[in-house]
Amino acid sequence: MDTISEMVETIWSDLYNMDREEANNPVVAAELMEKRSTKYSSRPRMVAMGEILWDGASILVQPYGKEWSIRRKLLHQAMTPKALRLYKPVQTAEATRLCNQLLETPNNWEKLLERFTSSIVFSVAYGHRIDSLNAEVIHQRFKFMHYSSSLNVPGKYQVESFPFLKHVPDVLAPWKVEIKKHGQEEAAANMQLVDLVRSDIARANTRGEEIPDSLCKLLLVTREKEHIPLSDRDFSFVPASLFGAGSDTTASTLCSAFLALVTHPETLRAAHEELDRVIGPDRTPTFEDEAHLPYIRALAKEVLRWRPVAVLGGTPHASTEDDRYEGYYIPAGTTVLGNSWAINLNEEYYPNPHHFNPTRFLDTALAERSKNPTPETGKPHPAKAGHSSFGWGRRICPGADLATNSLFIALAKILWAFHIAPLKGVRYDTFAYTDGFNIRPRKFECEIKIRSPAHQQVLKDELVDAERILERFTPFGE
Ligand code: HEM
Repeated sequence: MDTISEMVETIWSDLYNMDREEANNPVVAAELMEKRSTKYSSRPRMVAMGEILWDGASILVQPYGKEWSIRRKLLHQAMTPKALRLYKPVQTAEATRLCNQLLETPNNWEKLLERFTSSIVFSVAYGHRIDSLNAEVIHQRFKFMHYSSSLNVPGKYQVESFPFLKHVPDVLAPWKVEIKKHGQEEAAANMQLVDLVRSDIARANTRGEEIPDSLCKLLLVTREKEHIPLSDRDFSFVPASLFGAGSDTTASTLCSAFLALVTHPETLRAAHEELDRVIGPDRTPTFEDEAHLPYIRALAKEVLRWRPVAVLGGTPHASTEDDRYEGYYIPAGTTVLGNSWAINLNEEYYPNPHHFNPTRFLDTALAERSKNPTPETGKPHPAKAGHSSFGWGRRICPGADLATNSLFIALAKILWAFHIAPLKGVRYDTFAYTDGFNIRPRKFECEIKIRSPAHQQVLKDELVDAERILERFTPFGE
């Protein structure tokens, strides 16, 4: 190939002639990013954000290698099935509090969902809850998130095209000084949060008390016993990664669940039928009921499939070795995006894909599909979860099980307690979503009504126990 234009023409004609089987095919994504994961688990270089702002501390954008693997192992240690069991009481208590708040101010449902997911993430990360989205720590996190994403705009910084510019001395590069200043502020805030947990542990030890189990506490205890080759600054980015990656994503998925229920009322009826049959009117569902609530579990999975928050699979992967796949040459350093939106809506796997239909994820349906795939049932999906919304391979979302637990307990309790219905005369658009890498439905209103006075009384009674659990997680102040 002689010229760049010939090369571009070849790529376009390859894409144009791409077999329909290969386009948006979950098997191709799994083949590259899972089966060949040693070659496809890095991230594209993000100099301004990953290298200058965070100085390589954030797992999200770290290249594949030792530094990434140290952080990933720490996150895994705090997300084992045993650790996840420790977080369930606070998830349950927060879901009960959410339902009680929905009773009081149903029209404020979107903000209430955000408070719920923020509080879970902070309780799990640091053992402190969030009572209000006005908490100073929330404002601070949003400020950091907005600043970091403002750096990642194509063409904004020449250093992305000419990485050697990052070595220009600070006196000649005020843009770099500005980015570093923000990075130092974020690192100081992250270290303060770790210090808070350190002082919680010290105080509890002197008084012979117990503090809540949190990811930060678990990692500090591990750090006492084993050598973890991370500075205090780098260590502090591990628990801090939970808010950016786990709060908005889980809240947006719950917003999509509300949109799905409003536009597919038969699914609300089916959920009520299961909850009334299995749980009855005298108590709300808990994690112990999970195995007996297959429809609610399937509903949570169908929301993740129907409207994946990370439409393009989250932060892109990058390849680290040359590769060939089905006649395509993929050079090292290629940015690889899994198009979760298109894969999750591939009708060969999910017939009538825009129809929100939880029964696709019932165990019986999955078993039937793997024995006898038909155009009516769809082909079996290569991922164990049956969808691609948590990404792929070695970079797959480490918080997937924590998020799945939050989605299950919130949906089970909300659906047990409420009718969620469309407002009369309002037309709902199931494609009206925000733009960007992470999406959520554009603002819409719906009716959220308690199912009966008896249901209301149960929620109020259960709040007493929930508050007892939440008391142990001292709140962050406004
Ligand atoms: C419904 C909620 C969530 C969704 C849809 C979601 C989705 C994703 C996706 C698509 C990725 C990129 C995977 C890839 O590169 O292949 C990712 C990465 C990540 N997620 Fe989640 N996530 C959710 C909740 C959470 C939670 C609760 C946590 C907290 C532990 C979390 C922590 C992370 C981290 C740290 C990464 C970066 C991992 C790495 O680069 O190695 N996520 N997530």
